[in-house]
Amino acid sequence: MPASALLTVMTNAARKAGRGLARDFGEVENLQVSVKGPGDFVSAADHKAEDTIYAELSKARPGYCYLMEERGLIEGPDKSHRWIVDPLDGTTNFLHGIPLFCISIGLERDGEMIAGVIYNPIMDELFSAEKGRGAYLNDRRRLRVAARKDLSNAVITTGIPHRGRSGHDLFLRECPQVMRESSGVRRTGTAALDMAWVAAGRFDGYWEHGIKAWDMAAGVVIVREAGGFVSDAEGGNEMLDKGSVIAGNPHIHKGLVKILADA
Ligand code: IPD
Ligand code: CA
Repeated sequence: MPASALLTVMTNAARKAGRGLARDFGEVENLQVSVKGPGDFVSAADHKAEDTIYAELSKARPGYCYLMEERGLIEGPDKSHRWIVDPLDGTTNFLHGIPLFCISIGLERDGEMIAGVIYNPIMDELFSAEKGRGAYLNDRRRLRVAARKDLSNAVITTGIPHRGRSGHDLFLRECPQVMRESSGVRRTGTAALDMAWVAAGRFDGYWEHGIKAWDMAAGVVIVREAGGFVSDAEGGNEMLDKGSVIAGNPHIHKGLVKILADA
């Protein structure tokens, strides 16, 4: 299906910022060995990517509101529309020279996610979806969640809380349950790509707590348009506000909601 005008705007912004991130990622590998490390450089790369996305989106759709990881909330006259943007998801990977990170741009209309783009510039994979129009990889391949019905065959991805984050005890109760029931647990270090890869059928399911709206906004619509279910930890629809998310095909999603509730 040809990309709509809206998805073209989002895709152009993501690809433009992605070119900058890919260039900067090349530099990070050189900086690993310096005493100071690449910290400041990565922070500058993150801000530059956000500047690019903000400039592109504002030019194409003036007046929309924003929720961006670096700038926070920006009000605009059009209160119905809000861009939710993570200019660099997988910052720790980027900082360590691990080529697994992405840009995530979601559009919310009247409180509902209606479009999303997640772009991994290193693999040149752009996942996109618009409500009611399906989910695609690089505008060509239609995305479908995996068909596996049993958790016993499923590969599940998650996020592990680390220093400075809450939820360590909860994770230590939940993860052993999923380990026992599934075919394997993975941790990529990028929530947005976790969701894109659920939509692509690479992961069968995903759960995480304590993440932000910009980590998951685009992923919500991409997983749903690929035929998957996405909910908060209680099975409701308040993922963005509660910061917890469970995603997968309808069978795996149901299984995860149950075992996580019991943990
Ligand atoms: C992080 C990643 C990670 C998730 C963290 C997020 P950042 O975002 O999505 O996978 O586990 O909770 O904060 O910091 O790389 O943009
Ligand atoms: Ca993030």
